[in-house]
Amino acid sequence: MFLPNDTQFHPSSFLLLGIPGLETLHIWISFPFCAVYMIALIGNFTILFVIKSENSLHQPMFYFLAMLATIDLGLSTATIPKMLGIFWMNLREIIFEACLTQMFFIHNFTLMESTVLLAMAYDRYVAICNPLHYSTILTNKVVSVIGLGVLVREFIFGFKVS
Ligand SMILES: *[C@@H]1O[C@H](CO)[C@@H](O)[C@H](O)[C@H]1NC(C)=O
Repeated sequence: MFLPNDTQFHPSSFLLLGIPGLETLHIWISFPFCAVYMIALIGNFTILFVIKSENSLHQPMFYFLAMLATIDLGLSTATIPKMLGIFWMNLREIIFEACLTQMFFIHNFTLMESTVLLAMAYDRYVAICNPLHYSTILTNKVVSVIGLGVLVREFIFGFKVS
């Protein structure tokens, strides 16, 4: 549902309804979401921390894993806080630009996630089919170029979509 504003081409804001018909249960529905969000935050931060502090994990596979954890953090942070705001504080209005920004991040992080998974698949492919050349093919430089490519590709694509 939106509030039309005749002076502009787009509505100035949207009203998010949460789960219509279950307003009285919103508080209870929000707890599982909050709990899972907390677990995801803690889990993903732990992954990042362990990979950063453990020298034996400074390898391509774990760098990709760290990218995945970072993207997961961004993805859940782009959605859940707004959702909890609706459930807990009835912050149902979202201005048009905020809505677009949120959409941009949701699409981008999702796309980035699938690209990183592709890179991980490539990494394992090289490790299995070309084990002797693995360390010369997937150097730190190649991994950072892939990481940068993931960012650039998604941002270009994301701007086209949104
Ligand atoms: C990282 O976050 C995602 C959600 O964005 C979650 O599905 C995943 O389980 C989290 N990882 C850990 C180890 O908690």
